[in-house]
Amino acid sequence: MPNYFLEQNDPELFGLVKDEWVRQNTHLEMIASENYTFESVMEAMGSVLTNKYAEGYPSKRYYGGCEVVDKIESLAIERAKKLFNCAFVNVQPHSGSQANMAIYHALLKPHDKILSMELSSGGHLTHASKVSMTGQHFQGFHYGVNAKGWIDYEEVHEIAQIVRPKIIVCGYSAYPREIDFKRFRQIADSVGAYLMGDIAHIAGLVVAGEHPHPLPHCHVISSTTHKTLRGPRGGLVFTNDEEIATKVNKALFPGTQGGPLMHVIAGKAAGFLENLKPEWRNYAKAVKTHTQVLVQGLLEQGFHLVSGGSDNHLLVMRFEDFSGKEAEEALGRAGIIVNKNTVPGDMRSPLITSGIRLGAAALTSRGLDSKDFAFIAVKIAQVLNNIKGDQSGVYKEIEAFSQGHPTYTQPIF
Ligand SMILES: Cc1ncc(COP(=O)(O)O)c(C=O)c1O
Repeated sequence: MPNYFLEQNDPELFGLVKDEWVRQNTHLEMIASENYTFESVMEAMGSVLTNKYAEGYPSKRYYGGCEVVDKIESLAIERAKKLFNCAFVNVQPHSGSQANMAIYHALLKPHDKILSMELSSGGHLTHASKVSMTGQHFQGFHYGVNAKGWIDYEEVHEIAQIVRPKIIVCGYSAYPREIDFKRFRQIADSVGAYLMGDIAHIAGLVVAGEHPHPLPHCHVISSTTHKTLRGPRGGLVFTNDEEIATKVNKALFPGTQGGPLMHVIAGKAAGFLENLKPEWRNYAKAVKTHTQVLVQGLLEQGFHLVSGGSDNHLLVMRFEDFSGKEAEEALGRAGIIVNKNTVPGDMRSPLITSGIRLGAAALTSRGLDSKDFAFIAVKIAQVLNNIKGDQSGVYKEIEAFSQGHPTYTQPIF
């Protein structure tokens, strides 16, 4: 058993971290944006690198003593360039939101127009939603999805012609279908707009060739590193355009961020190494296969899925008779953790919603197979068909099942 400083110095906090470790091991994590990161990533993030200030970029820093962190950031950049098959990467964004902020700051002036997907259809807050700074400093215009829940590219084109945005954003938080980046670029070119891809959710599939690549179609692309990529919590920006890369670098530091989180950048480098291994392709394939197992299982049980299914790692269930909030809570009582999610045209508020979003990435990282996902689909249906009822029986089953599939081979807390 390792000697924990936290346990000795701060038993109260240690106890809470341990509680979270227990929670993660006794529940099934199906939030589409979460994952279990690699042990190597956690080691890098828990290292002395957190002590170092390194404003600036490798070999152009505003602080002394950066010779080692320069090598670490350069390693992260080189690995990311190989992974995304691109010419320029900035690995400093503290999060996906920061990455998006830097792109807007680099390419837009205040009040410029952003065209993006509306929130209830699967867009993200940082895609110029009114409640986000991005929707207050810039003018947000939005496209949605058609009655079937799919992007209607003709409609996007028509809206773009009317709005004449400076930037079009494609890439989403809750869109279960493939994105046609080529078609989006044609639309962007027709109105002289930049095309920004936000692959926060699908990056792990993209780098494995399991989703079309945003390059060469997008001018610039943002991502998170912690969702399907299984890296540390953070963001990045990449592009093949040198002028845009230079602008983004300035927009990120000193434009919108201060010192980079060197321990997280080291974590990103460690994660990218895993993503570059041949096994990563098998993982990404398995994530998609497992999502299909969930789709089939839930459709067989008579549930309605937005867009009728999924092409990626996530699916969105739509309910009529109860809310997403009620579904999230009932599944939570059964040990299955999901998030309530708005659905296209949702009449309920974002805190109530008419749907839930499910993803297969985390449980695939935990080693579950297709048979396990079929079992989970049955359990989800059992809970939702008895939404107001007692879930303690299912909870016991899920707890036992979860403990048979530990998150990590040894305790890490
Ligand atoms: C499409 C998309 N972009 C950006 C983000 C923001 O990422 P973060 O939470 O790291 O700021 C998210 C996160 O949910 C997302 O889904």
